[in-house]
Amino acid sequence: MTDQRTPLAAHATAHPVHPLEMVTGEEMQRAAEIVRADARFPANGMFAHVRLHEPAKDELAGYAAGQAVDRRLEALVVPPDRLEAIEIVVSVASGEVVSWTVQPGMRPALLFGESMYAILGVREHPEWQAALRRRGIEDFDLVQIDPWPAGSFGSPHEEGRRISRCIAYLRESATDNGYARPLEGMIAFFDHGAREVLEVVDLGAVPLPPERGSYLPEDVGPMRDDLKPLEITQPDGPSFTVDGNLVQWQRWSLRIGFDPYEGLTLHDISYRDGDRTRPVLHRASISEMVVPYGHPGPMHGWKNAFDAGEWGLGRMANSLTLGCDCLGEIHYFDAILATEEGTPYTVEHAICMHEEDYGILWKHQDLHGGTTEVRRSRRLVVSFIATVGNYEYGFYWYFYLDGNVQLEVKLTGIVSPMAVTPGDDLSCANLIAPGLAAPNHQHIFSARLDLDIDGTTNTVVEVEAEAVPPGPDNPWANAFRQKSTVLETELAAQRDVNAATSRAWKVVNPDVTNRLGLPVGYKLTPTMSTPTMLAAPESSVGRRAGFARHNLWVTPYSPDERRAAGDYPNQHEGGDGLPRWTAADRPITDTDVVLWYTFGVTHFARPEDWPVMPVEYTGFLLSPVGFFERNPALDVPPSTGAGCHASP
Ligand code: NI
Repeated sequence: MTDQRTPLAAHATAHPVHPLEMVTGEEMQRAAEIVRADARFPANGMFAHVRLHEPAKDELAGYAAGQAVDRRLEALVVPPDRLEAIEIVVSVASGEVVSWTVQPGMRPALLFGESMYAILGVREHPEWQAALRRRGIEDFDLVQIDPWPAGSFGSPHEEGRRISRCIAYLRESATDNGYARPLEGMIAFFDHGAREVLEVVDLGAVPLPPERGSYLPEDVGPMRDDLKPLEITQPDGPSFTVDGNLVQWQRWSLRIGFDPYEGLTLHDISYRDGDRTRPVLHRASISEMVVPYGHPGPMHGWKNAFDAGEWGLGRMANSLTLGCDCLGEIHYFDAILATEEGTPYTVEHAICMHEEDYGILWKHQDLHGGTTEVRRSRRLVVSFIATVGNYEYGFYWYFYLDGNVQLEVKLTGIVSPMAVTPGDDLSCANLIAPGLAAPNHQHIFSARLDLDIDGTTNTVVEVEAEAVPPGPDNPWANAFRQKSTVLETELAAQRDVNAATSRAWKVVNPDVTNRLGLPVGYKLTPTMSTPTMLAAPESSVGRRAGFARHNLWVTPYSPDERRAAGDYPNQHEGGDGLPRWTAADRPITDTDVVLWYTFGVTHFARPEDWPVMPVEYTGFLLSPVGFFERNPALDVPPSTGAGCHASP
């Protein structure tokens, strides 16, 4: 082992690595070795994650290119026999443990290995098998068992344990759509630490829905034969460059990162404006997401998956080598993750980057002068897709030529359904196929946006439309104005969208003004209707996903405040994250602010969402407001070439 360590250490100190460069397999392996070698490492300890320890913001600000970097990694270690999470930071180069912090009573996200034990343990349990026999099922291998995060409902099974609730589906074959035939009424509680079934609940059988719900081409029938090829060619290659994790495209510059829970993270996003490099976003990511189900019944009412904090969007990332997820001249980034033994493994092509044509950027036909000027819009797309059980979530960050930045989330995959019989109360579910319904649910995301508009001295202003009262100053009763309200403190900054007033939030730098004397800014605009959480604040998920109660939260930057529902949402009783931090009501003007934007969809499933859901979209837009002196995309050249005109 020593042979491997020496060159690694040399690499880590001598080679000019940027502090935010993505973790390498060698670094991860070395970090796990350092952790294991510590006398405090628990017997049979499991690694919930190993990841980059991102340097604090002031350290990053002090970094100069070429400088030696003390690369630090974080490990989260879990002992199998007691309820605690151990947070460890190590220096890869020096081999030292920098910090070792025990978090008593905290549970990590569900571990894959343990989830496999849950599936095997439940499958072999006599009470489970008896419940299957009561449903006429003898071939237990055809039963698909899905462990779910158990939530926090005061069940005696939860106390002092890491558990999951397992539900099941009957498959006809290995490649079947398992979700077509839910085994309604069956729930098994599994203790992950002790690796044993705690209880098998049978609420009573419901007949299996009759249809297989296959979406495989061989089962769908004849495929359409009238789609002509549509090819994207970039004969001179793409317009971006990549150096390590540094991406440069047009005036944009950014660094790519990857986190086990957040998935894709974006860093150091700046715009080159003439000879100025102007910061826009220090860091952007999805910090958490939750899927609260709105069905009151005992089979579905407890489902509240925190897909980031309880599973990990990064850990569930697809390898985009299979299929056709991206089109064009593509650059892929791999992601390195750790097994529960601390061994690095690679998710090949986890992140896709490419350029897309996006219709027109701007146009004017001058009816008097006879000129017509039109420019094509184009965007840089950085994306990844996570499969969390039945659902797929695609996260697409877009950078535009006019300074806009957008996040679009694409929801697809298979809804989590229930078997129903005629006469069942379907007030909180929708029929999607014969004998099959989908409980109403929401998908609510929290984007953490550490905006730095031309620096870190920023203030958040709510802007919305307001009608001017009719009177001598408004004789035609038509006038409306823009109302601006500075959000002074954290509690005042808990805000909700209001489509009727076109409400949006502008982040300005009061110290930097444009040529009109106004502070430079960027505006966060809801691009689609977006809900807050419908579950009551005092409900289990209401307490645990407090972030979902408001669309906007603003906090002063703190390196420890990374995840909207706290670091350990799994089986957490609630109250952590944004509600806890913002209770201090810290001032947020003229300071380094972080915006947390809650957005998503309320899903009343349709028949068209079955057997696999066409993409549903949600997201938001960040656009410059007085950041530039004028339209920053005037210098985009006109398009040339035959592609612009129909062939004669
Ligand atoms: Ni849905």
